[in-house]
Amino acid sequence: TGASLIPVFSANGSDDTSAQNTPPPIVPFQTPLPLIPVAQPVSTAGGIDRYDINVISTTKQILPGFNTQLLTYGGQFPGATIKARENRPVIIRQRNGLSVPIARHLHGASVAPESDGGPMDTIAPNAERIYTYPNRQPHASLWYHDHAHHLESENVYRGLQGSYLISDDIEDDLPLPKGAYDVVIQLRDARFDAAGQLVYTMGDRARTTLLTNGVPYPYFQVAARKYRFRLANTSNMRFFTLRLSGGAGMVQIGSDGGLLPAPHVTQSLFITSGERADVVIDFSGYPIGSQVFLESVASNGSAEQVMRFDVTRTAADPSSIPSVLRTLPPLPTATAHRTIVMRMDEDGRPSPQAYMDDKVYDHHRVDAHVRFGASEIWTVTNANTLAPHNFHMHLVQFRVIERNGVAPGPAESGLKDTVAVMPGETVKLQATFDTYAGEFVYHCHMLDHSAMGMMATMKIA
Ligand code: C2O
Ligand code: CU
Repeated sequence: TGASLIPVFSANGSDDTSAQNTPPPIVPFQTPLPLIPVAQPVSTAGGIDRYDINVISTTKQILPGFNTQLLTYGGQFPGATIKARENRPVIIRQRNGLSVPIARHLHGASVAPESDGGPMDTIAPNAERIYTYPNRQPHASLWYHDHAHHLESENVYRGLQGSYLISDDIEDDLPLPKGAYDVVIQLRDARFDAAGQLVYTMGDRARTTLLTNGVPYPYFQVAARKYRFRLANTSNMRFFTLRLSGGAGMVQIGSDGGLLPAPHVTQSLFITSGERADVVIDFSGYPIGSQVFLESVASNGSAEQVMRFDVTRTAADPSSIPSVLRTLPPLPTATAHRTIVMRMDEDGRPSPQAYMDDKVYDHHRVDAHVRFGASEIWTVTNANTLAPHNFHMHLVQFRVIERNGVAPGPAESGLKDTVAVMPGETVKLQATFDTYAGEFVYHCHMLDHSAMGMMATMKIA
């Protein structure tokens, strides 16, 4: 089973936490895939893109015939995609129109601590905050989400999530699919009650409805050519193993921190909560009229259809996938080594806690002192026998150098900010801390686990 249902007080209002409350039946493939709108700056003066974002509670039709209460960035679910450019700053003024504290975190970004939106650095109801993102980092498919401690899981679940794409010349100069053929796909799970409202229960790893760009089981009419999809797993707990129907291959070209050094063909894509994967799918081999399903494979091997691609037309395709996508700098010699142990209570006790190095998160404590400029190897172990985890560090994009004692596969050969650490696994990663000093957190990105304490603070000085 693995899925434990732990009822907790819901900070965001009424909830029916009964798992028996059956959701309305959903007929799949009735809704076209919504393309997530691109956010429009209120000003671009001085080469700075400024955005004003009100976080508000609103309703939206997700299931036909029901208006679902959501927490949103500016009324949109998912939040609008912010398109940023390397070295061109983005400044966001975020107002909290909710009755709970919120914090805006740009996942995967190199930002100063005061704009990191860490768990304790929250915006009170009716207050606002300015976040400055210098974008002094190469192209990457990042995402933003809420991070208010103990509320992050539910806030993100109820809608506070969006994509943030940084582009640069390296990426622009490649002949990859562009424009309408470069599409963000956010995948997540959800559980609805009979009234079409989201049910939040901490620890729920068996949410029954899969949402793609905020709607259940959409179809997407595609041309018989190559598309680039920027997949993001925005679930707070679920890990996805994705494949295409009929065993077709996809070409993974990117991960959390931008393009991989080289493309690789894969039949299956494993993407844990918070991770991203850029893939190219080539529909040119399919006759017009074909239907191709994106499927999610459960641990017992059964597959569920997530969305459907309908090949409806031909189109010219000037795009191609070069055999070299980028060159990553060689890793510097590591100057420090650290071991990290992730573990949570899995003995069925009523209020399980989760630990980083046997300690529950305490923001008053510094857990790792990192010298500014250091390049460190962190050896991260999942000490649980059942519970999966993943490991996310703020501020840095790291390299995975070993998984269980061997070099990682091609999917983990690029820059990463979140990495799967399955039960009993050990992952060795290297990160260089030469951008900002200050305190930043690292945590499991199964957001219920970080809320239960599996989070710690590093101080870079
Ligand atoms: Cu995506 Cu600390 O988070
Ligand atoms: Cu975890």
